[in-house]
Amino acid sequence: MTTGHITVPALAETGYVVLDRYDQARDPEEWHDLEYTGWRSSGVTRFAPLTSYAGEIECNGFWNHTPPRADKDGVWIPSQVAHAPALVRRAQEPRAGVGRCRVIELQPNTYADAVYNLHQDDNNRLNPEGTGWVVRAFFNLTDDPDSLLLLRRDRFDPSTELRIPLPAGARVIVDTQHFWHAVWHRGDSPRYGLIVSWESGPELEAYIHEHHGVARVDSAPLDATTVEHAQRELHRRLEERRQAMAALGAAFVAPEG
Ligand SMILES: [Fe+2]
Repeated sequence: MTTGHITVPALAETGYVVLDRYDQARDPEEWHDLEYTGWRSSGVTRFAPLTSYAGEIECNGFWNHTPPRADKDGVWIPSQVAHAPALVRRAQEPRAGVGRCRVIELQPNTYADAVYNLHQDDNNRLNPEGTGWVVRAFFNLTDDPDSLLLLRRDRFDPSTELRIPLPAGARVIVDTQHFWHAVWHRGDSPRYGLIVSWESGPELEAYIHEHHGVARVDSAPLDATTVEHAQRELHRRLEERRQAMAALGAAFVAPEG
């Protein structure tokens, strides 16, 4: 729950806002120059962190370090920042506190894959009450107008799904601890996106208004057969994973992203 934390009124209505697109084509393609690392997440991904717990090139949650802390006060990684000044500027533009900040590389997948990959983030673990609720910004770097950010209120209910297209310069801010989310990437080459954990507060509110954030957008259409197939696949894969984990005697560990 967000009770007790500072939140952003612009996000209160639906839990997401879509901002106007920026001209990504005018920015250099800095994501090619970053160092990537494998990280357990949803889909076939690699990540290039720009911040981390202590400025090393690694992606672990800040709460998994000693001493643990919330997803705030990310330490900029000098070797990465040197290659990506424009991305750093994007992340710092609102002057909201930045926690984890990284570029994701996602290989093409199917709608069924994306539905299976739906997850909620854990951005507010250890986040003290009275301080800003952590939300996530997604900037699309490559031009993927046919790819879609999927948001669901209810993981298993496709009628709660919103599908937001991801052309270059698309930027969306989401309360990812409440929304189930994943990307369906329909390209034939990897998709790159910048993901930033931002601290809610008046700075973020002003940024959303400055860039004309809207709390409701139309969902991209999708035929019912594709949705039904993906729902069946979701349940089939979850059961398959449950059985595999039971055979190993291991508790299932959810992916995070
Ligand atoms: Fe995520």
